[in-house]
Amino acid sequence: MSFSTEWLALREPADHAARNKDLLAAIATYFAGRSDLAVTDLASGQGSTLRAVAPHLPPGQSWTLVDYDEALLDSATRLGAGDTVEISTQRADLSDDVASVLALPTDLLTTSAFFDLVSKPWLTQFVKQAAKRKLPVYAALTYDGRMTCAPHDEHNAAAVAAFNRHQRHDKGFGPALGPTAPETAQRLFEAAGYKVMLGPSDWKLGPNDAELQRQLIGGWHDAIAELKEIPAAALAAWHAARLAAIDAGKAELMVGHQDLWAFPA
Ligand SMILES: C[S@@+](CC[C@H](N)C(=O)[O-])C[C@H]1O[C@@H](n2cnc3c(N)ncnc32)[C@H](O)[C@@H]1O
Repeated sequence: MSFSTEWLALREPADHAARNKDLLAAIATYFAGRSDLAVTDLASGQGSTLRAVAPHLPPGQSWTLVDYDEALLDSATRLGAGDTVEISTQRADLSDDVASVLALPTDLLTTSAFFDLVSKPWLTQFVKQAAKRKLPVYAALTYDGRMTCAPHDEHNAAAVAAFNRHQRHDKGFGPALGPTAPETAQRLFEAAGYKVMLGPSDWKLGPNDAELQRQLIGGWHDAIAELKEIPAAALAAWHAARLAAIDAGKAELMVGHQDLWAFPA
């Protein structure tokens, strides 16, 4: 799956506003007083997690951003995260090369908007490798299947259900965990001896987020159309009604996410 720099830039402010503040505070406390922290950010995109987390960690950090998209890694380096953070990048396909990435010297593993793309076998292996090295893990903004749209439309519920089914399709790692990812991750980390904190990081989008809403609805429309479950006319009516509400400044959208902070007990 590929993600454009424009899309990741558009969602970054909403992601930063949504990130669970209790979890960020817990991470800050865990690493307080440490120096020379090394962080590895998996599926980094152009560095949203780096910019969200670095201010909560002691100065003098070095981050390795890992993604298979060279353009996103280049953009991440350009955007940076201030003078006190050293950034390097590593291009890797995490679907078949997670072990070598986890072998990098690191104090913390981070990721965001990623665990819902992976499969249960992949996440099981990931947790096993992280546990072997006793590495704490922060995984933010994992979609949890909750989504509500206002104003009411008769097709909203069918559209959300179809989108959630599409989320389980293979995104390059085998059948995706989709909305089951937060709960699955919690169970796997706890079984591996981690203490786990899970907290909501929902997007609550309104008239000021018109372009983000437009793009989301467009993406969901295309995903749902691929399934061919909802009659084309009904899907088109839902799409048109959502866009009209956005244009009229009346659309609200809640997208449920969970953040996870897991550290060896
Ligand atoms: C939804 S984006 C999230 C990006 C970033 N973490 C953020 O929150 O803005 C998912 C990221 O996963 C990366 N990705 C997807 N499949 C991958 C794979 N097999 N190996 C490495 N990166 C992958 C994409 O390139 C993209 O940057």
